[in-house]
Amino acid sequence: MGQFDKNSELMDHFLHPRNVGKLDNPDAIGKVGNITCGDIMEIYLKVENNIIKNIKFQTFGCAAAIASTSVLTELVKGKTLEEALKISSKRIREILGEMPPHKYHCTVLAEQALKDAIENYQKKSEKK
Ligand code: FES
Repeated sequence: MGQFDKNSELMDHFLHPRNVGKLDNPDAIGKVGNITCGDIMEIYLKVENNIIKNIKFQTFGCAAAIASTSVLTELVKGKTLEEALKISSKRIREILGEMPPHKYHCTVLAEQALKDAIENYQKKSEKK
């Protein structure tokens, strides 16, 4: 783990991830994986009046992936779906601090997992 600053947000979110776990009866689930590294992320959403009321995640992956999903959940909780969709992997990286470029894809995976969950929610709502 020598490539990360021990006092960075990244290490803090990796060692103390926020909003870990599953939600009972989620309104939507997002699931993505990276075929190159094999890491998998799942995001669970509770949505009320277009607002993300609760969010939890399970990340089976590297430190940067766990920290990225943790930061993402804090960023989007309480936001509208449209606001949440605007949060990019770049924003996650700004918060996490410096990381080697070959870890950028870990932050992209978090963005994709959220998008997948929101798309899943929107498809379900269209059917109702
Ligand atoms: Fe796969 Fe980080 S190495 S998400």
